[in-house]
Amino acid sequence: MTPEEFRQHGHEVVDWIADYWGRVGEFPVRSQVSPGDVRASLPPSAPEQGEPFAAIMADLDRVVLPGTTHWQHPGFFGYFPANTSGPSVLGDLLSAGLGVQGMSWVTSPAATELEQHVLDWLAELLDLPESFRSTGSGGGVVQDSSSGANLIALLAALHRVSRGATLRHGVRPDEYTVYVSAQTHSSMEKAARIAGLGTDAIRVVEVDADLAMSPRALAARIERDVARGFTPVLVCATVGTTSTTAIDPLAELGPICQQHGVWLHVDAAYAGVATVVPELRALQAGVEWADSYTTDAHKWLLTGFDATLFWVADRAALTGALAILPEYLRNAATDAGAVVDYRDWQIELGRRFRALKLWFVVRWYGAEGLRAHIREHVALAQELAGWAGADERFDVVAPHPLSLVCLRPRWARGVDADVATMTLLERLNDGGEVFLTHTTVDGAAVLRVAIGAPATTRAHVERLWTLLREGHDWLANDFEEQAREQREAEAEAVQRAQGEQERAERAQAIQQAEAAVAAPARGGAAATEEPAPSADPAETQTPVEDRTPAETPAAWDESAAQAAAQPPVGARTRGEAQTQDEQTQDERTQDEARTSGEARTSGEAQTQDEQNQGEAQAAAEVGQQD
Ligand SMILES: Cc1ncc(COP(=O)(O)O)c(C=O)c1O
Repeated sequence: MTPEEFRQHGHEVVDWIADYWGRVGEFPVRSQVSPGDVRASLPPSAPEQGEPFAAIMADLDRVVLPGTTHWQHPGFFGYFPANTSGPSVLGDLLSAGLGVQGMSWVTSPAATELEQHVLDWLAELLDLPESFRSTGSGGGVVQDSSSGANLIALLAALHRVSRGATLRHGVRPDEYTVYVSAQTHSSMEKAARIAGLGTDAIRVVEVDADLAMSPRALAARIERDVARGFTPVLVCATVGTTSTTAIDPLAELGPICQQHGVWLHVDAAYAGVATVVPELRALQAGVEWADSYTTDAHKWLLTGFDATLFWVADRAALTGALAILPEYLRNAATDAGAVVDYRDWQIELGRRFRALKLWFVVRWYGAEGLRAHIREHVALAQELAGWAGADERFDVVAPHPLSLVCLRPRWARGVDADVATMTLLERLNDGGEVFLTHTTVDGAAVLRVAIGAPATTRAHVERLWTLLREGHDWLANDFEEQAREQREAEAEAVQRAQGEQERAERAQAIQQAEAAVAAPARGGAAATEEPAPSADPAETQTPVEDRTPAETPAAWDESAAQAAAQPPVGARTRGEAQTQDEQTQDERTQDEARTSGEARTSGEAQTQDEQNQGEAQAAAEVGQQD
């Protein structure tokens, strides 16, 4: 493609994106394709000859769009947001156009220095400690993801706690411990696995009623581990947990970490960028205790993936863990120690010029624009929580300091609440106007409404609220109808059983009466003999109604009444039905937990995480007992 061709097609692509943003609200939010549909619409082999650009663009509409879930849709309320924006896309386009590889300062000084500078700006905008600035002992770097940042924090912590020994010897089993809560993102456990510590090294610290890590429980666990000869390495505190945006209390966790020489890593993947707003900074009071900190501009700060902002208070621990200098990378600036080489701050060697898009975003919106973006979503979430809190159909189940609201629909007694909630979720998502995800809180299914797409306005949140209520009403009526039908069927079954019992009793009474009449006729001892069973089946099958009513023993009334009080054979009593339902619900919850393990999402992962971490902890405890 010549530069002139690029100019022409580049304009077409930019037009396409602008058109897409203009009409994104018209698509069903969640892609409606089935597994394999996208691949089935592609040729089995790559083209032998190059194709016209128009043909490629046509397939964008034909193949890609139908298979796209529209994260920029104003009705996207799932997981956490994944913002993009004009300046972000244009910055990224320029980065792609420049095509630089910023692994070392010398390979493109602007890539390194712009990144250092923008990360310093952002540290200031988020009011992070001075030590995180490049002018202090630490500094910031753009990583690909918070998952990656969590791993890097652990590697730096291991380097510090082992005084560099892990570089040479690696890690020994049963030596180090890492502290999380059941609400911590699963990537921390993954980091422990990758770092060679294994899941057994993970300690799951108890949470309080708001699902925040308990400082007392943390201190107790660390003390117990130290007493047993373990070396605590890292505590991962979360500001804004994935499931409910719970906030671990940094100001209380920090001193405990310091007392035991443990690295405090703060995972603020979603929530951290919100502290661009001064009134939200209290959420991370105590952040000055942190040794490292991660937040994703690619979630909620108008910057396209990937743009994780990662800071450390002591860059020497980080570069100590990751620096390696093969001969071919040597250069005068590095040798002089005068520059930062970002390859020593990350896993990979190569790196894109990601600071460009951040630079564009921060300059285009300015601090004020970024604050307005966050404030708008937080305000919308508070409104939604207010509406739901005042509505008898929903409970707001967890604190909602930011833009995530967790709603538990209320259902009538006897309705399997989890099934009903998940049915409501599917119904809403199938409708195409909105997209939500779920989590579990206290073991019960809950709807997560994460407000944060740049295109979402109050009207979209109002529409979501209408759909939630309509969906709830529709399902509640449906369940009521089902329950009514079931009650009627049960009553009918009871009646039928009662009738049968009555008929049987009457038949028996008639037989006894007939036998009594026949006995004197036969006379003497024969009268005391049992009547011979009738050889004629028709006689015993004759409908009781056809028979002449006979005198019945007084006891008949009583036994018929008892029969009526019994449930019909095969019919479940209400109590039994409920137990059965609870059992089914438990089985289903376990199935869901298994399913969520196969397709981890920010919200779904939590169930699996809790399970994994619970198992990890159980395994760890067993190990300790051994
Ligand atoms: C608290 C937390 N940490 C880490 C992550 C992982 O983020 P990333 O996709 O940047 O790896 C998430 C994702 O939602 C998260 O909520």
